[in-house]
Amino acid sequence: MSGRHSQQELEQVRQRIEALRKLINYHNYRYYVLDDPEIPDSEYDRLMRELQALEEAHPEFITPDSPTQRVGAEPLKEFGEVRHKVPMLSLENAFSDEELREFDARVHKLLGVEAPIEYAAEPKLDGLAVSLKYEHGVLVQGATRGDGYRGEDVTANVRTIDSIPLRLLGEEWPEVLEVRGEVFMPKSGFEKLNREARRKGEKTFANPRNAAAGSLRQLDPRVTASRPLAFFAYGWGELSVERLADTHSASMLRLRDFGLPISPELKVLRGVEACLAYHREMQERRDSLDYDIDGVVFKVDRLDWQERLGYVSRAPRWAIAHKFPAEEALTVLRDVEWQVGRTGAVTPVARLEPVQVGGVTVKSATLHNMDEIEKKDIRIGDTVYVRRAGDVIPEIVRVLLERRPPNARRIRLPKKCPVCGSDVIKPEGEAIARCTGGLYCPAQRKESIKHFASRRAMDIEGLGDKLVEQLVDKGLVKDPADLYGLTKEQLVGLERMGEKSAQNLLDALERSKETTLARFLYAIGIREVGEATAQTLARHFGSLEAIENASEEELQQVPDIGPVVAAYIAGFFRQPHNREVIEKLRKAGVRWPEGKPAPRPEELPLHGKTFVLTGALSRPREEIKEELQALGARVSGSVSKKTDYVVVGEHPGSKYDKARALGITILDEAGLRKLLEEARGS
Ligand code: IVH
Repeated sequence: MSGRHSQQELEQVRQRIEALRKLINYHNYRYYVLDDPEIPDSEYDRLMRELQALEEAHPEFITPDSPTQRVGAEPLKEFGEVRHKVPMLSLENAFSDEELREFDARVHKLLGVEAPIEYAAEPKLDGLAVSLKYEHGVLVQGATRGDGYRGEDVTANVRTIDSIPLRLLGEEWPEVLEVRGEVFMPKSGFEKLNREARRKGEKTFANPRNAAAGSLRQLDPRVTASRPLAFFAYGWGELSVERLADTHSASMLRLRDFGLPISPELKVLRGVEACLAYHREMQERRDSLDYDIDGVVFKVDRLDWQERLGYVSRAPRWAIAHKFPAEEALTVLRDVEWQVGRTGAVTPVARLEPVQVGGVTVKSATLHNMDEIEKKDIRIGDTVYVRRAGDVIPEIVRVLLERRPPNARRIRLPKKCPVCGSDVIKPEGEAIARCTGGLYCPAQRKESIKHFASRRAMDIEGLGDKLVEQLVDKGLVKDPADLYGLTKEQLVGLERMGEKSAQNLLDALERSKETTLARFLYAIGIREVGEATAQTLARHFGSLEAIENASEEELQQVPDIGPVVAAYIAGFFRQPHNREVIEKLRKAGVRWPEGKPAPRPEELPLHGKTFVLTGALSRPREEIKEELQALGARVSGSVSKKTDYVVVGEHPGSKYDKARALGITILDEAGLRKLLEEARGS
């Protein structure tokens, strides 16, 4: 019911609507472009809700560039066609340092310049190219690249991408501005999307690029809106002005000022060696970025030089993509072997025709488990895509069915353990098959002893995998405690073991006896108890005895320990065999300092206190954060009325101003140190 409004009231509503839109656009910019939100999400939601309510009461004020109007369009029957006034070209590729040096030499020669050239560098995003046309600062069209001259009209879909502004900020933009960039799906969003699809039994996407493409090319924009897409601008097309600035990098900064997200990795580099260093750095950081990149792009920064260099066929002579080694390759699955792990898990391992992936030769890959094999319909003899990203174990992504030979063989789970011959069981509803041999199975015995001796467990120097295998095969060691009973005579008889290395190993065994409770708990190999859980357990209970005697309910009181892990822990200590081994280890002299149980959260000195860190601090933020958290404090990213302390380093930003405005206690680093000391002393 909107009753009658006076002219004046209506004008007030219109002004409030305008102000809210400005405010929301500004906070979008802080969040998506600067990656430095000024307000918490709840405050942003409140602004959105207020705007929605006003627009609902006054639909006559709704405009298509309002932040409430991202989704709304009805599904399309087909995409319209968009002609690109300025064609969307592609890039030449360099696959080695040599090829990049050749590119740089060519640029020098063509320009007749001897001094090092400045290049704008940014990651090459693995998404899909789009063009966004803004007229008078309002987004009027979004298009895919298509064949470079004609693309598809995906306006309704790009409007749903939160980081793409519907209206540009400020007033400085040219009347016509066509922005070009990449739409992509962050890895985190991709994984979440696939997890949900798997849960619902729907089809999953092979990689973030496919997911981004599939999401953008949806006839129903509501589907696009539900997908976690993002955008980075990397250039421009049609402009109603001559240029935005004199260089590529300065033009990109202007786009950022207009509210368009650009890559935070954009850098200007002088000379080709700096470019090669950038390539190496990005390749190292590749896995830690939340989006896939397949190389880096270098562009001659000066636009007048770009013009002089011009184009060859479909690519500019002023830019190049320096690619990373491919992370996927095709090869043939020769055979499948079954490995038995420490906990008896029987895992299929693919033996592959050797192939280069991600810069190294790959001969084997994990097949995870039978469910994976069946889902991907993998057979021996198949031609398969192998993927190796960063440090992760290579895996088979999918099969090229067109190349399946007629004699391809199905993969079957063995009924008996390939190592000890015990039955292999696969409990209903579980993906993993296990050997039932327990410590009778030499494979499980070897793996559990290797784990026990490993660096992060008991750290027994010189006790490598080969040696453990010999010790178990010769029957000298049946469980970890037997290690401490080994004699020099026994060791000297082994392969590649002289007097000296035997003595070294005995010394290392002696040294390893002095350990910590957390290491010991990790070393004994309770299922699902990794290093982090072992540390939490040690801290919480303080002594082994307390853990041995804890009930499942008591174990579940420990942060991050749920019913499953609690059952594994309690089950482990119920086994007489395990208790015996522990007893033997203690008798052999394995020891650690035992402590008091950790205080409950509410007993910690900084419990209930919220801290915000801002400005440049003399130590890594993570470190300070962990110290505060260990004392029970909460560390938040934004200042609100609930903040108790703001810790301020050099050149603090808006958080400092806000803290002052709200009258929150402000600490410098000396103040923080004092507070930490007092808290620890209390
Ligand atoms: S510049 C004249 N910069 O790579 C072409 N392209 O192979 C200017 N791409 O279709 C393109 N990240 O989709 C440029 N930082 C970046 C890029 C990038 C990804 C894609 C783009 C283009 C393809 C060219």
